[in-house]
Amino acid sequence: MGRALGRRPHGADRPRQVHRAAGAVRPGPADRPGDAVTSAATVAAVPGRGHWVRGVVQDVAPPGVDDLAPGYLDPALLPVELLADAAVRALATYGPAALSYGENQGALRLRALLAERAADEPSPAGPEHVMLTAGTSQALHLIATTLARPGDVVLLDEASYDLAQRLFTDCGLLLRRLASDEGGTSVTALDEAARAVRAEGRRVAFLYATPTFHNPTGRTFSRTRREELLSVAARHGVLVVEDDAYAELLLDPGEPVPSMAGIAGHRGVLRLRTFAKTLAPGLRLGWLSGEPGLVGRLAAHGLVQSGGALNHTMSMVVTRLLEDGDYDRHLPVLRAGLRERRTALLKGLASQGACGWTATPSRGGFFLWLECAPGLPEEELLAKAFASRMRIAPGSRFGHAGPTAVRLSYAFNPPGLLERAGRRLAAHLHDPARHQEGRGSC
Ligand SMILES: Cc1ncc(COP(=O)(O)O)c(C=O)c1O
Repeated sequence: MGRALGRRPHGADRPRQVHRAAGAVRPGPADRPGDAVTSAATVAAVPGRGHWVRGVVQDVAPPGVDDLAPGYLDPALLPVELLADAAVRALATYGPAALSYGENQGALRLRALLAERAADEPSPAGPEHVMLTAGTSQALHLIATTLARPGDVVLLDEASYDLAQRLFTDCGLLLRRLASDEGGTSVTALDEAARAVRAEGRRVAFLYATPTFHNPTGRTFSRTRREELLSVAARHGVLVVEDDAYAELLLDPGEPVPSMAGIAGHRGVLRLRTFAKTLAPGLRLGWLSGEPGLVGRLAAHGLVQSGGALNHTMSMVVTRLLEDGDYDRHLPVLRAGLRERRTALLKGLASQGACGWTATPSRGGFFLWLECAPGLPEEELLAKAFASRMRIAPGSRFGHAGPTAVRLSYAFNPPGLLERAGRRLAAHLHDPARHQEGRGSC
């Protein structure tokens, strides 16, 4: 079957196409200059016209509210046509095998392709190191229920991905927050916490780490910090769960830092990856890698024994994308789209001068962590944002307890909206009265 990228298979009345595998990202209907309303959420108000259909997708902000909170891709960046074509090719190539129960650990060819993608890491991996998952959330659930018991303690950064925290506590695990600095998780804090948990007669479930383009802070830990954390974790016999959801989204020039799994030669580390951030979250497809014995234990779970590989049919579609080179052509297009959005948000924020906030843009991923000048209470900032019809994710949502900070996502909205929203937010942060009182800094 021909590859025919960019061709609609059946001329179907699918939503308007906005993305091509190797071409430019065309503006979606909600991002035309001069449109009175331009947010992705607004598209939801017109059922059947746009991509974001209420009742079909997870909740988004009401129409007219600019939502800088979601860690999802802008509908305009979701590769509808790419996947439609790959689905046709997958069914043509694999026939009924694409529709049957999949091999428990995941189809061998896709596991081999995923292992090859990590070939530039310090330690090679083979298909035996890899297990397909229904995305990172499902992998976290599998690990939390298979390798830990209720009452065990997860060690994690003071500010961490909020829904992972929710998932762990739903599994009966306890959370212990570790101090962190600009370089990432504090090595001393990890050492002290591991000792303290043991002294309390509890077990550490694992260290949950997001060392690359951290959610929510955007930080990337240096290789040295990774090595130090690995050495302390190994000394205490603590498993490291490395959530690498954003690993493939380096937006700046330079080399990626090797994964903790790669540095450790997979020993004592489970690395979790997902296609949710590079293709589409609705696929619910990802993979984990680790020592074959440990991966085998996870693949022996009843959920996999009954039903086979998770999301097998979708995994065969993604196999075609990887095998045919489409995924590697798609990634630079996606990165360019994210880069453009990050620049637009920063431009809007800078409209008042860098006054009342500092932002350290991440080198990749979806987020910008904005720290406010001292003296601005979180509730006040949220109230101002709300009054100007904007949603932002407060630091407290992630467990952050220091001076007010917010996570801004540049992934979910078109550049024009991001610049305008950034300008509005900067105006809220730039409060001359507050600065004259000497409570803030400009
Ligand atoms: C750090 C991190 N891990 C995992 C996820 C969820 O991944 P998935 O959609 O594959 O379950 C997210 C999504 O926001 C995330 O930010």
